[in-house]
Order: sequence, then C-alpha cells, then structure tokens
Amino acid sequence: MSQIPTPPAGQDNAADDDVVALLMRQHGDIRNLLDDVEHAEGDERREAFRRLVRLLAVHETAEEEVVHPFARRSLPGGEQVVDERLAEERAAKETLAALDDMDTDDPKFLPRLQALRADVQAHARAEERYEFIHIRRSTDAAGLAAMARAVKAAEMMAPTRPHPGVESAAANVMVGPVAALMDRTKDAVRKAMGKDG
Ligand SMILES: [Fe+2]
Ligand SMILES: [Fe+2]
Repeated sequence: MSQIPTPPAGQDNAADDDVVALLMRQHGDIRNLLDDVEHAEGDERREAFRRLVRLLAVHETAEEEVVHPFARRSLPGGEQVVDERLAEERAAKETLAALDDMDTDDPKFLPRLQALRADVQAHARAEERYEFIHIRRSTDAAGLAAMARAVKAAEMMAPTRPHPGVESAAANVMVGPVAALMDRTKDAVRKAMGKDG
C-alpha cells in the first residue's frame, strides 16, 4: 500500500474551493521551486529539483485528469485549446526527462533548467489565458469546488516544502520513478472524483 500524506492543518485557503485559483497557486509554487533549484547548490539543489519534478508531474497529471477533459467538453473551441496545451505539456515533459537523467551539478544542468523554465512558463500563461479564465465562466461554484477537491487529492502526492509531521509520510512517496508517481496521482484523482481506477 502506498501512503498518501494528509493535508497539513491550517494550510487551507480560498483556493480549496476554486480549481482555477488552486492551479494558479501551483503555477506560482512551480515558479518558486524553479528559483530554488537555480539558486541552491549541491544536496540542496538536488532536493529542490526532486520537489520540482514531483510537483510538475502531479500538477500536469491532475490537469490532464480534471480540467482538460472539462475544457474539451465545455469550452467553445475546447478541443483545439486542449490539444495545444497537451502539445506544450509533452514538450515540457521531454525537457524534464532530459534534466532528470542529469546530475544537478552538471555544468549543462542550469542552461537546460532555463529551457524548462521558458517552456513551463509559456505553457502556464497559455493555460491561464485560453483555458482557466473560460473554465471559471463555464461552471458554477459547486463545479469549481468539485474539481478543486480532485486537484487537492493530487497535490498531497507532491509536498512542495517540509511540513512537520507530514514529512515522514511524504518521505515514503518522495522516492521512486516519476511514471509510478503519475499512476498513483491518477488513482488519487479518480477516487476523489468518485470514479473507479
Ligand atoms: Fe498544464
Ligand atoms: Fe498548469
């Protein structure tokens, strides 16, 4: 059985009820982690990079399971909007995979990290502009909250910073291949949406 850390008490905020606010907060967390990786060295950089890889994997998986299918169904021109976002996500994943095979002390690491940053930020801006804004207009508060719950279940798989008491449980899911993490994330999201596997 894989262990899923529980949310730290007192961390809840308005983003809990609004999937768009929650995903935009994660975009901010991803930007901060990119900064952390860039500015840290040695083991600290390695650790920050693991957190970044995990958050990106969990964030994109949650989007693919929760908001992209909704946008495809519900937005005018949704098919094309989502196909373009998926193409950007694939490109970012390829850059991420290349980085993931590299030692964080490698002199080529930082230039590749900059390439990842450019891809990830362009993708986040496109999502916010062409997808998220329209999702907010196309659904009611209950719909936003239901999608937020599913994304929240995914987020528990990717702690972005140490939380006392959560860290030991989180440590159990900090190791292991990214593909396995994505599978566990999908399971958690589908469970939260009331779907089977
Ligand atoms: Fe995305
Ligand atoms: Fe995103």
